[in-house]
Amino acid sequence: MTRSHATNYPMLPEAFAWRQGELHCEQHSLTELASQFQTPCYIYSARALRSAYQAFATACESLGANVDILYAVKANPNLSILSELAALGAGFDIVSTGEMKRVLAAGGEARKMVFSGVGKTDAELREALEAGVGCINLESLSEMLRLNQIAATLNSRARVSLRVNPDIDAKTHPYISTGLKSNKFGLPIDQALQGYRQAKDLSHLQIIGVDCHIGSQITELSPFLDAADRVLTFVEVLEAQGIQIDHIDLGGGLGICYHDETPPSPEALMQALVGKVQAWASARGRPVPKLIFEFGRAIVGAAGVLLSRVVALKPQSSPEATSFAIIDAAMNDLMRPSLYEAWHEILPVRQDATESARSWDVVGPVCESGDWLGRQRQLSLREGDLVILASAGAYGSSMASNYNSRPRPAEVMIEPDAPPRLIRRRETYEDLVSAERL
Ligand code: LLP
Repeated sequence: MTRSHATNYPMLPEAFAWRQGELHCEQHSLTELASQFQTPCYIYSARALRSAYQAFATACESLGANVDILYAVKANPNLSILSELAALGAGFDIVSTGEMKRVLAAGGEARKMVFSGVGKTDAELREALEAGVGCINLESLSEMLRLNQIAATLNSRARVSLRVNPDIDAKTHPYISTGLKSNKFGLPIDQALQGYRQAKDLSHLQIIGVDCHIGSQITELSPFLDAADRVLTFVEVLEAQGIQIDHIDLGGGLGICYHDETPPSPEALMQALVGKVQAWASARGRPVPKLIFEFGRAIVGAAGVLLSRVVALKPQSSPEATSFAIIDAAMNDLMRPSLYEAWHEILPVRQDATESARSWDVVGPVCESGDWLGRQRQLSLREGDLVILASAGAYGSSMASNYNSRPRPAEVMIEPDAPPRLIRRRETYEDLVSAERL
């Protein structure tokens, strides 16, 4: 029996499908992958990763636009994922020199990086300049002055954008909304002109762009369009003051389907935003500026699942009492449910259920009641069964911790017609204590 992933589970990419009642990633059954790599374990589809990136790149090409699609490393910084994307020509949005070094180690180029982040240290700014990072997105006047001084000591000129905060509601979870004036990010758009005037007078800065990023897991077009309108109006103000920019960076934030969301497709988003900028430029008889985007989740989110095994069941007979399914993955492996009450679809690997389905709170073994992965899920489960948490490619392993002294999971990359590739081995006890001194 082949069960269509598309009809039943819109969050699963084509690479994941049921064959003979068992979930596969390409030709590999997840049961076999669990025996080979143990659980919990992240499984990624290289094909899904590439096709998500290419959806953006192809859409921009067909619009004839000069667009750089960057990958936001924080979504998943695994070296193999970075190298896969670097090979496709991606640039990278980094927020630390740790991320910068990962990208360089994976074969990415410094000049194709933008350095975002609200609290870059002097040491990080210096390292980024020394490495030749393409653009530093400044988020405060303090940072601007510090960068100018550091560039002076290196006898160089730092290429910069200012991140403007357009005060737009991204209509997403408050913890991942970044474009409201109550958020810590960027310079309020009404103070940004002053910032640019100051930057223009600093001898070791070279203004090359304008930057904005309003949030993450955005599932509607309108916040993107509203932010772009404000940024374009701001560019007009800048240019009227004689401050020219080469590029506009509109950030990332496109959402994916975790449950029943219907975010715009990469094509639709690119068409709307690139189209808007093209129309704006043509109405003013000016060249279309280069555009930059920084997507993380929409590139890697759907490509990964977290594979886990049911350790124990605690069923309750009374309907008011909660029945718990305790699995071997926990909040330290996938923090999103605990932190944002995020939904990840939980699906059994085998579909030969003999037990009738009932409502389970699927939880991890960590000693906190907040350690849950899914609540009130209608599932047919037995102890020892394998389940996946879908759409875990972004902000899954990258936010994992060792809480409760749990080693972080293995990560495995699946290519069609090739053996599975271990791209991060499971941590050991020795890893847990390797930085500690007795
Ligand atoms: N650019 C900047 C400056 C960012 O701060 C972010 C994400 C991105 C790009 C990429 O956003 P994306 O395309 O992935 O939405 N841990 C949260 C998400 C935090 C996003 C932080 N910034 C989660 O699990 O939902």
